[in-house]
Amino acid sequence: MISIEKMTTRHLADVITLAVMDEQKPFVGTIDDILKNANAQVRPHVIFADDTMVGFFLIDTTYSKSFDFASRSNAIGLRSFFISKEYQGKGYAKQAILALPNYLSEAYPNHTAVMLTVNCQNPIAKQLYEKGGFEDTNDLYHGGPSGPQHIMTMAIESSIRAANL
Ligand SMILES: CC(C)(COP(=O)(O)OP(=O)(O)OC[C@H]1O[C@@H](n2cnc3c(N)ncnc32)[C@H](O)[C@@H]1OP(=O)(O)O)[C@@H](O)C(=O)NCCC(=O)NCCS
Repeated sequence: MISIEKMTTRHLADVITLAVMDEQKPFVGTIDDILKNANAQVRPHVIFADDTMVGFFLIDTTYSKSFDFASRSNAIGLRSFFISKEYQGKGYAKQAILALPNYLSEAYPNHTAVMLTVNCQNPIAKQLYEKGGFEDTNDLYHGGPSGPQHIMTMAIESSIRAANL
């Protein structure tokens, strides 16, 4: 059973052991580098399979200010999503992505969409996001360090927002 939690200091000892394969580092880098981007607006999250920490991602609430392609939305950004190498290939990423809409609608109800960029050389991740409901905008982002990236988006449905309409 997959669950998503906001990272706190009690998670730190396990978080720093998370790592992707060397050939995957161009896509997300190391956890040390990723954590340097974390702050009150760019919130680190951890993915658990039962009681075992298996993965990580950032939710960036400044995304629409940081990236021109998101500037006409109030989208949050999904960044640095990964499953640690020893837990890959077990379906955890798919379960986590499928759990994301419910999680985001409860944790970030004031945002109407979540966006991400995924490297054009990373078709496994792109297909994963598509299976999870993200749509390819058919635009490319060229500002990343490892070549062009597809820009993808998914609506965040909010029962709280719906109730206020
Ligand atoms: C992409 C990533 C998150 C997938 O994690 P995972 O837990 O191994 O993925 P899952 O086991 O849930 O598999 C998801 C789908 O991808 C496919 N897949 C996963 N690894 C694969 C591989 N090496 N080769 C081919 N297909 C693969 C699975 O078959 C599955 O497809 P299905 O839904 O049709 O069954 C993981 O490889 C990763 O962390 N990569 C490095 C970081 C990265 O690239 N992040 C994305 C940044 S935008």
